[in-house]
Order: sequence, then C-alpha cells, then structure tokens
Amino acid sequence: MQRDCDQRDRWGQSAHNLGLLRTRLKQGLGLPARELDATLRIYCGMDQGRGPAVLVTGGAGYIGAHTAKALHSRGYTPVVYDNLSSGFRAAVQWGPLVEGDVADEERLVGVIGAHRVQAVIHFAGLIEVGRSVANPDLFWQVNVAATCSLLTAMRRCGVGRLVFSSSAAVYGQGGRGPMETIAEDAEKAPASPYGDTKHAAEWMIAAQCRAYGLTAVALRYFNAAGADPGGAIGEAHEPETHLIPLAISAALGDGKPLTVFGQDFDTPDGTCLRDYIHVTDLAAAHLAAVEAPFAPGVFEPLNLGTGHGRSVLEVVKAVERVAGRPARYSIGPRREGDPPSLVANPARAEKLLGWRAAHSSLDEIVADAMRWERGPRYGAGARQFRVRPRPSEVA
Ligand SMILES: NC(=O)c1ccc[n+]([C@@H]2O[C@H](COP(=O)([O-])OP(=O)(O)OC[C@H]3O[C@@H](n4cnc5c(N)ncnc54)[C@H](O)[C@@H]3O)[C@@H](O)[C@H]2O)c1
Repeated sequence: MQRDCDQRDRWGQSAHNLGLLRTRLKQGLGLPARELDATLRIYCGMDQGRGPAVLVTGGAGYIGAHTAKALHSRGYTPVVYDNLSSGFRAAVQWGPLVEGDVADEERLVGVIGAHRVQAVIHFAGLIEVGRSVANPDLFWQVNVAATCSLLTAMRRCGVGRLVFSSSAAVYGQGGRGPMETIAEDAEKAPASPYGDTKHAAEWMIAAQCRAYGLTAVALRYFNAAGADPGGAIGEAHEPETHLIPLAISAALGDGKPLTVFGQDFDTPDGTCLRDYIHVTDLAAAHLAAVEAPFAPGVFEPLNLGTGHGRSVLEVVKAVERVAGRPARYSIGPRREGDPPSLVANPARAEKLLGWRAAHSSLDEIVADAMRWERGPRYGAGARQFRVRPRPSEVA
C-alpha cells in the first residue's frame, strides 16, 4: 500500500531480533539480565542517542504517564499524544507532549511521521463504568471509533506494532464462580458499555492484525493502583471513582466517608473481590509487550494481574494499617455494572512476556499511593490533607 509518511517498519524486526537474542544469550552466557539487555539494545540499533520514538496516546493520564517514565528509562522517546480531557500537562515529564485527539487521523499521521514513531501504546480513552452506563454513545465514539482512526493512521504510516489498553471489564462475571481466576479464553460477558467498548476495540484490532499484518498485544489490566515510588506522578482521576484513593481520602483528613457498594455478594466477606496491580508493574509489562518477539499478524490478549483477589474490606484494612488511623465508611447498595469478582490468571503474560508483578502487595500499593496523595501533586482533586490528629495526639 502507498504510505503517507516516511516511515519504515524496522521496529518489528529489531524487537524480534532483540527477543530472540535475549533468549539465546541468556541460555548461553548466563549474564545478568540488565547487562545483557544493554548490550543487546546496542547490538539491535535501539540505543543510539535518544532511542526510537514510541507514541503514547493518553500519556498524560495515570497509567500512560508511568509507562512514559519506564520507556524513557529504557532509552525510548515517549511521544505523548493527549487531548488533556482527563490528563495533566504536569504528568508529561519524559518526552514531548502533542495535544491532539485520537479521533483526528490526519493529525496522527503528521505526528507519527514527524517523530518517526516506531510503535504505539494506546491508553487514550474514557474509563468510568458509571458514565458509560449513562452515555454509551460517547464511549463508543472515543473508545472504538477513535481507535479505528488510530489504526488507520498507523497503517498509512507503516507502523506495525501496537500495545492496547484493554481491561478485565471484557469478562464480566459470566458463568464463573466468585473464587475462580480468569484466563484469557474465559467467557466474555461485559457488565457495562465500558466493557463492551474494550471488547469491540479488541475485535477491531484483531481483524487488522489478520488483514494487514499488524502485531498487537491487548493488555487486559485488572485494577491499576499505587503510584510511582518517587512521588512525581500518580493517580489523579476527576472524579475519582477508584477504591484506594477514596479509602485513603476517608482515612486522612477531610475526605468524605467511603461508600462500600454492596456487602451481599457471594464472596467471603460479602464485598467485591478485585485483583490490584501496581501501576509500575503495569508499566513494566508495556515495555515487555513493545519488545516481545511476536510475529507480524499476531494478536495476543494478555491478562495483567497478580492472581490474588482482595475484598473491598481488605483494602480498607490495608489503608488503615498503613495510615495508622481508621477510614470512615458506610455500606451502600450495589453499583450497576459491578461483577462480584474479577481476579486474573496471569500465567500467559508471565510466559510470553517474561513478566511478573513484583510490587503489587496491598501494603506496597497503598504505601506508594498514600505518599502520592499526601505530597504536592497535580490534579483538580489534589487533596492537601489536613491530617486529623489521632486521639492519642489530642492534648
Ligand atoms: N485505571 C484502571 O484501573 C484501568 C483498568 C483497566 C483498563 N484501563 C484502561 O487504561 C487506559 C488508561 O487508563 P487511566 O486510568 O490511565 O485513565 P486516565 O483517564 O488517567 O488517562 C486517559 C488519558 O487519555 C486521554 N484521552 C482521553 N480521550 C482522548 C482522546 N479522544 N484523544 C486523546 N487523548 C484522550 C486523557 O486526557 C487522559 O490523559 C484506558 O484506556 C482505560 O480504559 C484502566
């Protein structure tokens, strides 16, 4: 096909070579992994000056910013493409920010060409489940139609590698028991329009892999949580609907009491079970997916989680433990679109990416999230906590 920008797809070949060499040399040389990677990256031409550009759509958002940092520390140039609808200029610290909408195919073609982008990580999208129930049309436009524009722009420019932010929401509860973990081939029964749009985007990407030889990895995150341990970036959704920041807010200072949505699920303590994964573990998985030696035309959906379910009340207890003070909460009715349990079986991601969650104990997640929430931070929801004194501290 006639290409619209001066782009050669060297990425697939370099990443493929890198993966193969890494495996062979690890077997043969027994070098420490970090040293081996540095040598191989030079060998594969991926480490000359500032490294290859990776387009990070939604890179001003929560998971995208952490991944941009990880890409930069590995020698890539993360080119963030974001319309700042829910992201923050201040979160873009490791490469250029291009303001634009993913629906704008012509703009994307220009940016991919100008930066000589070699691979794309597509985070941009709408994420609130409740909002998707109220406004499904908006979610289909942004999460599906705009993803189609991105795919076309990539094809016009000959970019052959995509990592897509999918979600555990594609599974829903299906016929699964509450204590069963979920493998990639489990029944797909999204419980919300949000989950429908992630599932539909996966189909669309898979079809393009078959038709045009695109290589794509759909990473189905379970519950992203925590923050960069350095404290410079973290979770700043507005409105915040995620449990851990809300529980921290309830434990520290002036935050509203937490509402626990339902205590009548078929789970050990009656509250929902979720699989919390540290955002730095997610970022590491994106690097592995960008470099994995998958052949052209492969579409690989992979779960990213720990394999362990934590109940809402367990999370509240972890927050209280780390904060050293109680978190105020009340029990409310169930929320529409909330399956009782979503717990990953991450075996396939571990096998194909050589990746494993390393920082995802509940206490590490909560400690990093709390450091971020208490520090100077960006975001309209920035809660500079006026920490309530413990009873023992009151004179
Ligand atoms: N946070 C989670 O627990 C979780 C779980 C599963 C999947 N995901 C998926 O991961 C991705 C990132 O999630 P997040 O928590 O970082 O969300 P986020 O809202 O913090 O980041 C999304 C980013 O995309 C940008 N954006 C939205 N629409 C855009 C558009 N049309 N064009 C350009 N930029 C646009 C926003 O400005 C924002 O910076 C999303 O696709 C989400 O569905 C997140």
